Amino acid sequence: MRRDPGEVRVLVTRMFPERGIDLIRDEGFGVSVWPHERPMTEEEFLKEAKRSTALFCTLSEKIDRAFLEECSHIDVISQFGVGYDNIDVLTAERLGIPVCNTPYVLSDATADVAFGLMINVSRKMFWLHKSIAGGEWNYFRPGSGLGIELRGKTLGVFGLGRIGTEMARRCTGAFGMKVIYHNRKRNKEAEDELGARYVTFEELLEESDVLTLHASLSNETEGIFDMKAFGRMKESAIFINTARGLMHNEEDLIRAIREGVIWGAGLDVTNPEPMDPGNPLLEMENVAVLPHIGSATVETRNRMSELAASGIINYYRGETIDNIVNPRSLDRGK
Ligand code: DGY
Repeated sequence: MRRDPGEVRVLVTRMFPERGIDLIRDEGFGVSVWPHERPMTEEEFLKEAKRSTALFCTLSEKIDRAFLEECSHIDVISQFGVGYDNIDVLTAERLGIPVCNTPYVLSDATADVAFGLMINVSRKMFWLHKSIAGGEWNYFRPGSGLGIELRGKTLGVFGLGRIGTEMARRCTGAFGMKVIYHNRKRNKEAEDELGARYVTFEELLEESDVLTLHASLSNETEGIFDMKAFGRMKESAIFINTARGLMHNEEDLIRAIREGVIWGAGLDVTNPEPMDPGNPLLEMENVAVLPHIGSATVETRNRMSELAASGIINYYRGETIDNIVNPRSLDRGK
């Protein structure tokens, strides 16, 4: 069902970059931006959504089956982010609600963070930075603060898609690293371009010097990196997660690093989020943690805002929606 522009009311759940919001306003649509410096509660979200025809939202909004069934009047949902594990896409499809996201535009920025974390962990940079503030920079001790080198090492990619490929490009280009990967289906293009070798999950664990996660969160990937998995990894291995914190068991990760089962970890996502300031990982030498900022550059966030807006605009114009994740929802109509 298409509406007159004046009937469209887009609920914008955060203060996203204005670029996309302006594009929506230019269509003559009503826009309601949640103005507070805190997320909406579930009750507030439901109340606002009931008064809206479209949602411009992000990962922390829980859009599950119960929510969608209460809000089946919603025409279209556009997520500011590439992952959409907060949305029950199958229920949306059944109800004829298209769901859009922001792929491609954030691959470089997110891969930069994975790459940066890898280097920072391998050279203990976050910890050494902190040690200066603790007054520990005194005389030269040739054997202290030593890291490990990355040249020629093996990068294991769990989920070699768009972001994983960008990470692998950086690692092969900068350090001549060999690439192995594990995916649901093989990525022949990356195999040809990067010489990436497909391996089983067990081989990925056993052969990686740096294991980097770029898969999406699902029933199969939730909690998959636990003590059993860390136990199969090299003692010298670095674990990098810029995908979803729920894929690793954080208690197990703490234990694995503490007990020398693996060497260290770089995390842009934690389990849970936000991370508790008292988390022992923050005190570990071989660990670098960031507060889920993979896509946080001015350029990328502007592009995400525009792309998320385009999903809503194209829906109401009746034009092709390039960034739709459940195209079959359109066959159901509204
Ligand atoms: C993404 O785009 O999925 C980021 O992790 C933010 O949610």
